[in-house]
Amino acid sequence: MIRVLFVCLGNICRSPLAEAIFTQKVKAAGMQAQFKSDSAGTSDFHIGELPDERTIKCAAKYNLPLKHRGRQVNRTDFRDFEYILAMDDNNLRNLNNLKARYGFEDKEIYLMRDFVTETQGMPVPDPYYGGEEGFEEIYQILDEALDSFLAQVKATHHLYA
Ligand code: 4NP
Repeated sequence: MIRVLFVCLGNICRSPLAEAIFTQKVKAAGMQAQFKSDSAGTSDFHIGELPDERTIKCAAKYNLPLKHRGRQVNRTDFRDFEYILAMDDNNLRNLNNLKARYGFEDKEIYLMRDFVTETQGMPVPDPYYGGEEGFEEIYQILDEALDSFLAQVKATHHLYA
């Protein structure tokens, strides 16, 4: 079982959407038994909350079930998840500081867009202070990035449906 954690700042926009898209792709590939995924935020701003209304609307548009409540990254996440994927540099920096504090210095944290060669180092932009079009944009970005991520993980771990 490969465990994947998607991380953004608030855990109400990008990371719950990423997790929902990933779950749909895993299901479409018939690989539910091989993956477990979740999402979390680096901040404590929205603990216990449902995803942002615009996230919910975007998920509904693409028939993505979304039943997440906001939670903050914690120490055990570094132990429990093989892949921890940050949405932007800010998230990455926070996660790298946290892992050191929790004694997981050697754990590699990835940027979500690093799995597409052309978008390495680029962020999944924070849509929180923008309009609804920002959610369509992050959906498209995540859809592409997650196809590549899933393909690479399947190859790395020799996984077949
Ligand atoms: P997310 O978006 O990190 O993609 O969930 C945000 C959600 C909330 C805030 C910032 C970004 N906030 O400042 O409350």
